[in-house]
Amino acid sequence: MQVSMTVNDVEVTEEIEGRTLLVHFLRDHLGLTGTHWGCDTSNCGTCVVWMDGEPVKSCTVLAAMAGGHAVRTVEGLAKGAELDPVQEGFIQCHGLQCGFCTPGMMMTARALLDRNPDPTDTEIREAISGQICRCTGYATIVRSVRWASVKEASVKQASVKQASVEEASEEVTA
Ligand code: FES
Ligand code: FES
Repeated sequence: MQVSMTVNDVEVTEEIEGRTLLVHFLRDHLGLTGTHWGCDTSNCGTCVVWMDGEPVKSCTVLAAMAGGHAVRTVEGLAKGAELDPVQEGFIQCHGLQCGFCTPGMMMTARALLDRNPDPTDTEIREAISGQICRCTGYATIVRSVRWASVKEASVKQASVKQASVEEASEEVTA
């Protein structure tokens, strides 16, 4: 059967077997190996991607079910050469060791910050509670997400300040 969807803003159409899981479609058909496959039990969460902006475990979704939807993977997180603050946070706060869980963690973290820009540590832990990290003990992952939250708040504050300076100087010159 044929399936079409948008992946990281690009329209793709592929011939697949009906039983193909989204995680295998992304990795094996599209070569997007940033999405990892870590279990057969829907427990590890390393396969998390977004479908229409919502995090989903791509090992629990048939590629056919994603037909007509917009999928985003970790490869679509950065804007060109500019890393997403969540990616920066994982670098700054050592949110990874082996990195196997990291793509899924980052997709979940980005979705959390999009709906709750200032989450508590408990809310961060709740958001990633469906995902397993065998290396970090989670503390540095929580710290990484908090780093991204603080960075985004300061960028927002700086742009509001800049806008009010520009507004004030326009009033003076008017
Ligand atoms: S591969 Fe483990 S939950 Fe999807
Ligand atoms: S960094 Fe190794 S599993 Fe999370």
